[in-house]
Amino acid sequence: MTPPSTHLGLVFGGASGEHAVSILSARTVSAALRSGANRERYRLSCFYIDRRGTWWPSEVAEAVLERGVPAEPADLPPLPERGGFRGFPAGALEVEVWFPVLHGPNGEDGTIQGLFTLMQVPFVGSGVLGSAVGMDKQAMKAAFAAAGLPQVPYACVDASEVAATDATASGSGDLPERLEARLGYPCFVKPANMGSSVGISKATDRSSLLAGLRAAAALDPRLVVEKGVTARELECAVLGTARLEASVLGEIRFDADWYDYATKYSEGRSHTVIPAPVEPAVEERAREMALAAARAVGASGLARVDFFYEEAGGQLWLNEINTLPGFTRHSMYPMLWESSGVPLEELVHRLVEGARESHQLRHGGGMAR
Ligand SMILES: Nc1ncnc2c1ncn2[C@@H]1O[C@H](COP(=O)(O)OP(=O)(O)O)[C@@H](O)[C@H]1O
Ligand SMILES: [Mg+2]
Repeated sequence: MTPPSTHLGLVFGGASGEHAVSILSARTVSAALRSGANRERYRLSCFYIDRRGTWWPSEVAEAVLERGVPAEPADLPPLPERGGFRGFPAGALEVEVWFPVLHGPNGEDGTIQGLFTLMQVPFVGSGVLGSAVGMDKQAMKAAFAAAGLPQVPYACVDASEVAATDATASGSGDLPERLEARLGYPCFVKPANMGSSVGISKATDRSSLLAGLRAAAALDPRLVVEKGVTARELECAVLGTARLEASVLGEIRFDADWYDYATKYSEGRSHTVIPAPVEPAVEERAREMALAAARAVGASGLARVDFFYEEAGGQLWLNEINTLPGFTRHSMYPMLWESSGVPLEELVHRLVEGARESHQLRHGGGMAR
């Protein structure tokens, strides 16, 4: 039973490359938490984390939500000297359930989940472990591999290996040769901890491989390089706590060689097809893999699991899991649930219920996440 009018705290923005997307997601989530039956269920306070990581109270947060764009220093009260978390703004300590709507580092990666866990306050989504493993592509891939889940061939690279390669006179050495022998061209070079395709490049020869490695190493000490495949991109949404459910599948179609940042965020360059037009057997396999992927990393609450599907060979590979997926009105996660019979208002309500359930599991021991 939900006690009347729970005080929810929605926190958004964040010191991440996906700050602006988070504001758009938060507009959708906050509107859904304030409409229909949720109006009586919840009293919502919003909190904004600016790009430097400073937390701001609801007056500032509501103004940012209203405008829908990141706050510039001139829009904010005088800034503290240092960025980062320096304590809670007014109203935050009274929050009964937290709803983080943050994408990427400092929000989707276990950091804020650690803060809420220490506070012993329920929060929506995965805990520290699921968030951290889901965020880091090296750790995520290791967890998927340990669970026997299919992935494209890949190699983990450390930025120090890239620096050592650059130190050799010819810019060659072991690393590019090892990658070429194992993965060939084209291959994709990725920083392990970004998102939104930031820092990712497609390499088609030795020089683009070296350039891609340098660019990714400038963003993250941990990198992943993958064999490039030509495949359709399918996605599945996961919801639940002790019992996880998978949605229908969606497909991303785009007008570009691959789904890079510009394509993701330019109006009209990509669209979604829901349900994805695939054979029922492929859909079933993907939905099972989505649940297995969430379990493999220890995710719960919500997650979006992405696949590569090579139709000719019938190959389905896991690409990644996102534990705080995009949540705008046009984002795959809410659209997949809408099409699976869970409208937006009910979806956000179920997520809050899930937060309480996880909290109880965590405190009851056993299935803690
Ligand atoms: N191994 C691959 N083969 C083909 N395309 C890829 C591969 N890896 C990534 N891509 C392309 O790059 C996009 C972004 O990669 P992804 O790993 O999903 O990063 P992000 O976490 O930033 O979304 C994918 O949606 C796909 O279009
Ligand atoms: Mg992706």
